[in-house]
Amino acid sequence: MSPLMRSVACAALCLAAGHAGAQSAGQTSALDESSAGTNTQVAAALLHAPYSDLRAIRPIAGDAEAGRRKSESCAGCHGEHGIAIVQEFPSLAGQHADFTYWQLVEYKRDAMPGGQMTPPMTPLAADLSDADMRDLAVYYAGLDPAAAPATEAAARPATAEQLQRGELLYLSGDPGRGIPPCQGCHGSDARGHRDALRRDRNGRTPYAAYPALRGQQAAYLRLKLAEYRDGKQQDSTTDFVMSGVAVALDDASIQDLSAWLASLSWAAN
Ligand code: HEC
Ligand code: HEC
Repeated sequence: MSPLMRSVACAALCLAAGHAGAQSAGQTSALDESSAGTNTQVAAALLHAPYSDLRAIRPIAGDAEAGRRKSESCAGCHGEHGIAIVQEFPSLAGQHADFTYWQLVEYKRDAMPGGQMTPPMTPLAADLSDADMRDLAVYYAGLDPAAAPATEAAARPATAEQLQRGELLYLSGDPGRGIPPCQGCHGSDARGHRDALRRDRNGRTPYAAYPALRGQQAAYLRLKLAEYRDGKQQDSTTDFVMSGVAVALDDASIQDLSAWLASLSWAAN
């Protein structure tokens, strides 16, 4: 079995094992439609589950104007225009609403007893209602990152060779090392999965929570990729998918990929 197949098989096995465990412990799964007709009910149920099962999510809706008002407390770190003020914090402008929403649900769940704290987001998300999380997610998704003024958070200068290596890895992967092409899940232009908004025949959008990576802060990308690789992201089925990919990345690949993604401008194609 190639390293790639092995990691994909592992992700599938982890899911199957985790899923069975969740069911036998009497937990609610997002797949269980009889008890979870809407995402709101799903989100409430998942606050108590060991991880979020996002394989059958439906598109979220929210009030962008209400989100704008609620975003005042976020602007200190994520920027007034949704572009983070420092490299270590993620930008939120233009990110898919579903990804932002489910990340907030995960942070909120971590505030429950036994949760894994992610400062500063866990305590901040604990105070958000489901409607707050939807409104904020929809507000940030509607912000155009290309329209935001340049920020002070300058990326570490990257060499032309590094950017080239990052681009190649993103577009083609490296079968020899078991690295799949990132574009298969994050889009050829890194704006998210190409089927993010396509509903299946049951009205579900399983790829809506696959994030856009274009123009994201380099230091944040490095941090996240190392966390997935090191098994520190175990909160959702989407975490398991990404962790299965990241196990094959070494530090140099993480640096190259992050530098290239951060260098992409939102305005260009
Ligand atoms: C004190 C600074 C601070 C404030 C205030 C703050 N955040 Fe964050 N936020 C962070 C940091 C740091 C992270 C990265 C945490 C991690 O490692 O997962 C983060 C991560 C996130 C993420 C995950 C994004 C991604 O791409 O993975 C979302 C969504 C988010 N914050 C939304 C919000 C919202 C909405 C608010 C306001 C209610 C808010 N944040 C307030 C610092 C802050
Ligand atoms: C099989 C699908 C798949 C492939 C291939 C894939 N990813 Fe992901 N990636 C995901 C999913 C799903 C998530 C969301 C995980 C979560 O919920 O935190 C994700 C999350 C991420 C994040 C976190 C973004 C944020 O704002 O928090 C980064 C960074 C990332 N991926 C980079 C990459 C890179 C670089 C590659 C190529 C080496 C890659 N991904 C390949 C599915 C994939």
